[in-house]
Amino acid sequence: METSLESAREPAPAAPAQPWGQWLGDRARVRAARGLHRTESSRETLMDLASNDYLGLSGHPEVRRAAADAVHRYGAGASASRVATGTLGVHRELEDALCRYTRRAEALVYSSGYTANLGLLQALGGPGSLFILDAHAHASLIDGARLSGARVETSAHNDLADVARLLEVNRDCATPATRVALIVESVYSVLGDASDLAAAAELCETHQALLVVDEAHSLAATHQGSAVRAAGLADSSHVLATCTLSKALGAQGGAVLLGGGQAEALREHLVNTSRTFLFDTALAPAAAGAAVRALGLADAGALARLGRNAKLVHDTLAADPRLRHRIERGAGAVHSVTMPEAAAAVRAAALLHGRGIAVACFRPPSVPDGVSRLRITAHADHDPDALLDALHAIARIILEEES
Ligand SMILES: Cc1ncc(COP(=O)(O)O)c(C=O)c1O
Repeated sequence: METSLESAREPAPAAPAQPWGQWLGDRARVRAARGLHRTESSRETLMDLASNDYLGLSGHPEVRRAAADAVHRYGAGASASRVATGTLGVHRELEDALCRYTRRAEALVYSSGYTANLGLLQALGGPGSLFILDAHAHASLIDGARLSGARVETSAHNDLADVARLLEVNRDCATPATRVALIVESVYSVLGDASDLAAAAELCETHQALLVVDEAHSLAATHQGSAVRAAGLADSSHVLATCTLSKALGAQGGAVLLGGGQAEALREHLVNTSRTFLFDTALAPAAAGAAVRALGLADAGALARLGRNAKLVHDTLAADPRLRHRIERGAGAVHSVTMPEAAAAVRAAALLHGRGIAVACFRPPSVPDGVSRLRITAHADHDPDALLDALHAIARIILEEES
């Protein structure tokens, strides 16, 4: 179950002076009263329509072998930060492979997508900077913006007119921020909708702002394997991207991806100032080796199989007139069905789990707009007939749950 937004969005608890033990008990009671108790969950025995392993690569024999080979060659851990002897051949190999795959000029690998976002935004922030953050931005982007020391404004979700308004307010104010960045996701993790990157990049260029794109849900998952590349922005200096290696690539880790004439200078700046790069142990060799092999397997055929199954998810559920208006048309693998209330979403997910089908359940406060949803993620490796059976069960249970 995805809980990434919770820490960023859960209202701060009222803080009476309580000792730790009492406070912990109190927090657990509040969660239970709100129906928000969560447990760790495994997809091992289920038809997986919940995880982010979109191309089914985490268990691919060649990816497993590449992880094992990297362990044999480099050991279990990197043993130090990248600037203190932790940089290994496999990190360089991964950065080269990411550049080739996304057509960008420079890449810098971090220990996770979360630390890549924190490290990039912190390194760009500070006094004199303004970050405009989409209202549906991931928790790691919110945390990075908060830590950065930049002034932070939130724009309405996927609304470039609102971004333009905020840019103009800054330009016309008495003390405008001179370094501005717009921060978006290529494909959003809750609704699965896409940003219009070409239009966002144009708007940013007009205002001499940077565009930071989190490619977590588009790397190896949407057209050409990268939304920035597909939008024709791979060579744009003012478009910076981050990504995770833990979703479609089935490994672990993250990266910053840069292009154009400023790419080398920006990478150098990050190597010297990005705290989650400088002060974090480098990515484990197994994860780096696995990601290199996964990039080789995330080819046009794999993307086409993912696209076929994503279309099947949407079209099957939308075929029922009672569900049609409740399905967000996912731009990548993620599809969301709105539910009337949190309890109905929880019950439907539990019933499906009982039938061997894993779907994710999103509900307030983990969702930016307060709407409860079931989130269904397509996977390239699902047999279309088995997927169709699962989708019919999902539609039936959603509708039964409400009748
Ligand atoms: C949009 C987005 N950015 C960043 C991350 C964090 O990536 P990682 O799991 O590699 O830390 C996630 C993962 O949930 C995500 O959905």
